[in-house]
Amino acid sequence: MKFNYIEDISKFEGQKVTIKGWLANKSSKGKIHFLWIRDGTGIIQGVMVKGEVDDQIFGLYDRLTQESSLEVSGTVRKDSRAPGGFELTLSDLKIIQIAQDYPITPKLHGSTFLFDHRHLYLRSKRPHAVLKVRNELIWAIREYFYKNRFVLIDTPILTGAVGETTTTLFETKYYDEGKAYLAQTGQLYLESAIASFGKVYCFGPTFRAEKCKTRRHLNEFWMIEAEEAFYDNDNNMDLQEDFTVHIVNWVLDKCQDEFKEMERDVSALEKVKKPFPRISYDEAVERLQKAGSGIHWGIDLGGTDETILTKMFERPVFVYNYPKSCKAFYMKPHPERRELVLCSDLLAPEGYGEIIGGSERNDDYDSLVERIKEENLPLDAYKWYLELRKYGSVPHSGFGLGVERTVTWICGLSHIRESIPFPRTIYRLYP
Ligand code: 4AD
Ligand code: MG
Repeated sequence: MKFNYIEDISKFEGQKVTIKGWLANKSSKGKIHFLWIRDGTGIIQGVMVKGEVDDQIFGLYDRLTQESSLEVSGTVRKDSRAPGGFELTLSDLKIIQIAQDYPITPKLHGSTFLFDHRHLYLRSKRPHAVLKVRNELIWAIREYFYKNRFVLIDTPILTGAVGETTTTLFETKYYDEGKAYLAQTGQLYLESAIASFGKVYCFGPTFRAEKCKTRRHLNEFWMIEAEEAFYDNDNNMDLQEDFTVHIVNWVLDKCQDEFKEMERDVSALEKVKKPFPRISYDEAVERLQKAGSGIHWGIDLGGTDETILTKMFERPVFVYNYPKSCKAFYMKPHPERRELVLCSDLLAPEGYGEIIGGSERNDDYDSLVERIKEENLPLDAYKWYLELRKYGSVPHSGFGLGVERTVTWICGLSHIRESIPFPRTIYRLYP
């Protein structure tokens, strides 16, 4: 079982190591063969010289194809011209399996082809870099909440009540209960957990039957949600700001190689510092109208509006206090202007748009009942949720950050499908 990983290779200069991986590329000058081997942690060039290895091993070169799996042994040599600074002088080679006609070749492929082969495409440099950033981002998120004493509450995927809106529900049959919905959010369950833990979070897949085909929507996406007792909407925005700065700094620190691979200009990310501008929905509409948008007061900002608005700022921007008509039933009405709710969206710069949706929650039993009725939602499905307003109701707020939207922005991607290993969109359930 003893073998080494390419990312550790610098520790073994002058020593013999064994690497297991896949053949990324090969070339030969007759008496010298060059093998590019990757193992998930890096890529290294192996050099095999005729006469220095067994002839039978030297001859295996001809059988090797792109993506064949193999095991090599050799001595680590420093070489300033090599990408990682080291190469391997090979002494042994074992073929594990010969790959036949690997479909993704070094030539350019269209995105439909690549996503039809996503199970293989994951091995390419660009998806590898994006998913490494995703991995670091998720680690940073969990670390932030843990350090700030939020308790992880796992919320159900199969739910009986509508979490957000009836328009994007995935429904499934559920025994005698009739039907269940795939969770659009874990929020309502988090709200019940604050009375036990104070500050809580959940992280899981959420589902929305988005009928639109945009670069920003998936049908299955991962959301991190936080819920905080005794926080008003301003406290909630302060928290989101601190959280966003933390996760961006984390990936900037950990993912320089990946950003280089993706040719992401990180200077835009380096500008993500506190404080983030905060503008009211009223002001956003005014600014957008001046910029030529057809938006009018009372409707939600569209994708294009968000793009226009975020290009006005170098930092993420909060838009707060939307009309209640474009937001979910659970938000707290504005105390003076009943047509508004206390909420905010955090829009990412460079045109990326909404990455976080948050709000103060309606903590009053009667007005929440009224809102549920207004939205034509079945009261009995919310019996438990309403009970939270009967037994020690407190002001509270929370927010949800879409992991894929955030990865898309941080990596500077042009389409959200690149931000998740296996995207689910209207036209894609394969692979
Ligand atoms: O704004 P949303 O709908 O808010 C909620 O779900 C609240 N329950 C969150 C909360 O307060 N606990 O969604 C939150 C975030 C959005 O800002 C966006 O980043 C992401 O989830 N999101 C999507 N990401 C990809 N594809 C979709 N179809 C998305 N819909 C929302
Ligand atoms: Mg939203």
